[in-house]
Amino acid sequence: MKKVAVLGSGNGSNFQVIAEYFQGKDVEFTCISDKKDGYILERAEKLDIPAFYVPFSQTYEFFKDKNYDLIVLAGYMRILPAEVLALGNFINIHPSLLPSFKGIDAIKQAYNYGVKVTGVTVHYVCEEVDAGPIIAQVPVDIEPDMSLFQLENVIHAVEHKLYPFVIENILYDKVVDPSLKLGIGGGCGGCGCH
Ligand code: GRF
Repeated sequence: MKKVAVLGSGNGSNFQVIAEYFQGKDVEFTCISDKKDGYILERAEKLDIPAFYVPFSQTYEFFKDKNYDLIVLAGYMRILPAEVLALGNFINIHPSLLPSFKGIDAIKQAYNYGVKVTGVTVHYVCEEVDAGPIIAQVPVDIEPDMSLFQLENVIHAVEHKLYPFVIENILYDKVVDPSLKLGIGGGCGGCGCH
C-alpha cells in the first residue's frame, strides 16, 4: 500500500480527481489544509479520506514522524522551508509552462501577456517558488478568440488528467510520457505516427 498526502489551501479540485482516480487502487490518501475552512477538507470528508487542518506553523511537527511515499501540493498557497521539504518527496502542479509565469494568477499572466501557447507543469518542490526540477509539461494553445475563462477551463481540465497520471508514474517508477499516454499535448494531434 502506497501512502500519499495531498496538501491544499482552497478549492481542491485536483485533490478530488486524484482521489477518485486512485479509488480501489493500492494507494491510501491523507488530505491536509493550512486553511481551516478550505473546501478541500470538505471534499476529503465526502470521499471518506482522513482530513486534517494543519496550520502552516505546525507543518514540520505534522510530517516529522510520517512516512509518505509522496507529498502532493495541489493549490497549497505556502512556501515550505527546507526542514519540511527534507521530510519527504514533494511535488507541485502549476498552471503555466515553467519557468514562464511563476506565482499567483499564472493563467491570467500568460493570457494578458499574449503568449500563444501556455500549459501545465508538474515539478518537484524546492524552497524557491515554482522552481524545482520539472517532471512533466503539457502545452495548451491560446486560440485568438479564447476568453480567459475558457482558457482557465482548458488548463484545469489538463491538470485533472495530468496530475493523477504523473502521481501514478512516480509511485510505481514508470516513465512519464503524458503526450503519448493521454492524447493531450504532443506534436501531431493523435495521428498515430509515433
Ligand atoms: C491549480 O490551478 C494549480 O495548478 C494551482 O492551484 C490551483 C489549485 O486548484 N497550483 P484546486 O484547488 O486543485 O482546484
